Amino acid sequence: MGKITIAIDGFSSTGKSTLAKQLAKKLEYIYVDTGAMYRAVTLFAMRNGIVENPGALVKLLPEIHLKFIYNKDAGYAEMYLNGENIEADIRTLEVSKFVSKIAEIGEVRQKLVEMQREMGREKGIVMDGRDIGTVVFPDAELKIFMTASPDARAARRYKELLDRGENVSYNEVLKNVRERDHIDSNRTFSPLKKANDAIAFDNTDMGLQEQFERMYNYALRVVKKF
Ligand code: DC
Repeated sequence: MGKITIAIDGFSSTGKSTLAKQLAKKLEYIYVDTGAMYRAVTLFAMRNGIVENPGALVKLLPEIHLKFIYNKDAGYAEMYLNGENIEADIRTLEVSKFVSKIAEIGEVRQKLVEMQREMGREKGIVMDGRDIGTVVFPDAELKIFMTASPDARAARRYKELLDRGENVSYNEVLKNVRERDHIDSNRTFSPLKKANDAIAFDNTDMGLQEQFERMYNYALRVVKKF
């Protein structure tokens, strides 16, 4: 069986990364969370006090070195920024608040898309994000576009943040989900939209096991052809 490229796109907190991770593990593929890369650039901008200054960030882009390093205990790759493990730091609501703005910057996208294409050069990859099926790998053999109602997504995200010990309110999380939907869908460069040949996947009322089984079946159907 040949290796394929699997692109999983969709709105924030639809559970893309959970599923993409499981799928990659089962297929023995590489998993890449591109949201982590946009979050890493955002963290860099926050630390340098330039989240509101795209010009300054663009100038500093060559100083941003990103790497995924596999953590055997966790069972997935973690994000490193200039040699530092920033996996926990990029998952805060604070980073979520700024990340859509940073992801609007054309030069940032160009740099990250180049890195992503390089990572997927040999196929055998599951990549999740917003523009994987439309921009990064328009020729991906399998494309999934995930959606769920804003309430369902906010509830999942709220639980995740509480579990992590963050002090947030449900309404604040729902507001962030809606704001990111709006910015991600309306930006000039690579707005979030379903590729024509992507499978629409609404998981509002679907449990994890059912989602995984469906997704795995889609993958098997395609993998068998290669
Ligand atoms: O998947 P996530 O919530 O971790 O993504 C964080 C932000 O990064 C999201 O609001 C939009 C942006 N993003 C993007 O523009 N393109 C991608 N391929 C992945 C994420």
